[in-house]
Amino acid sequence: MTKIRVYELAKELNITSKELIKRISDLDLDINSHMSTVEKEEAELIKELLGSEVDSNEKNVKEDDNIEDIEAIEIEENIVVKDLAEKLDVTPSEVITKLIPLGIMANQNQAIDFDTASIVAEEFGVSIKPIDIEKDSEDIGIDLDFEDDSKDLKPRPPIVTVMGHVDHGKTSLLDAIRKTAVTEREAGGITQHIGASTIRIGKEKIVFLDTPGHEAFTTMRARGAQVTDIAILVVAADDGVMPQTVEAINHAKAAEVPIVVAINKIDKPTANPDRIKQELVEYGLVSEDWGGDTICVPVSARNNEGIDELLEMVLLVAEMQELKANPDRKAVGIIVEAELDKGKGPVATALVQKGTLRVGDVVVSGTSHGRVRAMIDDKGKRVKKATPSIPVMILGLSEVPEAGEYIYVVDNEKKARHYTEIRKEKIREEQMKASQKVSLDDLFEQI
Ligand code: GTP
Ligand code: MG
Repeated sequence: MTKIRVYELAKELNITSKELIKRISDLDLDINSHMSTVEKEEAELIKELLGSEVDSNEKNVKEDDNIEDIEAIEIEENIVVKDLAEKLDVTPSEVITKLIPLGIMANQNQAIDFDTASIVAEEFGVSIKPIDIEKDSEDIGIDLDFEDDSKDLKPRPPIVTVMGHVDHGKTSLLDAIRKTAVTEREAGGITQHIGASTIRIGKEKIVFLDTPGHEAFTTMRARGAQVTDIAILVVAADDGVMPQTVEAINHAKAAEVPIVVAINKIDKPTANPDRIKQELVEYGLVSEDWGGDTICVPVSARNNEGIDELLEMVLLVAEMQELKANPDRKAVGIIVEAELDKGKGPVATALVQKGTLRVGDVVVSGTSHGRVRAMIDDKGKRVKKATPSIPVMILGLSEVPEAGEYIYVVDNEKKARHYTEIRKEKIREEQMKASQKVSLDDLFEQI
């Protein structure tokens, strides 16, 4: 059903919102919808009932308020009292005073909704209108879901996330794969963030994401599963299925990501791979050699055992997925981690999902934006471009973006700034809505 704002209806009737609300309540209509808006039918009824009456009073109203002569000021849907005061060119206490008769005991830092603000503004003889945010964002023409023509799609490397319970050997397994030594660099041997790395096997590339197994990092594991094509579930053969193993299974299932199980630490004397397979059955993962369709590879990250077979299986699953993306379009990617670096400023690691990201591109990510000043790959080398699936660290952003946010290329810096402003506005609005206890709606519900 279409809703009409009270203030718009009032404008149409050439009276003030306050006046209109008073008259509606005088009419004793059975309108129990939110009083900041009314249904279209109700608006018609109100117009009909008030129309003639309003016409005869029109002159008085105009003379009283003299509103129409002043151009409407644009304000946010929710505005903080002191900001409104500034826009109206009055003091915050003057605004607060006008709010009291409306039953709103606000301080100058409290937000009020648009309709309340419009009543206050009218008291000062000022007309206001809401900023049209939706219209603005459409102007930018960003379409993240923009479908690529199948003829433009080219094969891309699989993104594989390594998941599992704390200390089951995820980072060690990746080390064995990369033959580097990330574990040694990690504080206390616990993975703090998602590390992204690219490895090459013959002609093929695989992109790996390491996730922390510590229970506090649920969102990181969930995020990892979302950007992933394949999950490697690491289970220590001497330990078994543990809480974060189960959680990882659930994340992968929720994201509809195929799972390849790596039964790790088979070098340990207490290792019992069959017991792991047995425990996994309970979670719907039945090993192939037990008649199911879950690939289980016994490995030892420590002794480099089973690594080649694991990679072979990963490539096999990837092949079946026929992963493709269009590299010839404006890049869209996802931030997997971001932080403020003392020397470099905000740095963010992004995985390009579609298109090619280039140094010099103007990007937006949440409330952060900027021109890509430099890009560094997972080996620490400066690169000029990043194609689909490839992780890169990006320098040049205005602030630290949030992990999990999209990052996308826009035409120019003006658009980038504009878009982040809209985003900031929306966040402010949401925060205000959450903190706002007294609104005009509450007030009228009491009448
Ligand atoms: P979080 O990131 O903290 O969740 O841990 P993780 O799963 O990355 O485990 P990590 O690779 O840090 O390994 C934990 C411990 O298990 C370390 O002491 C490793 O040396 C040991 N470890 C890992 N893989 C093996 C293995 O195949 N055999 C044996 N014996 N020990 C292993
Ligand atoms: Mg780790």
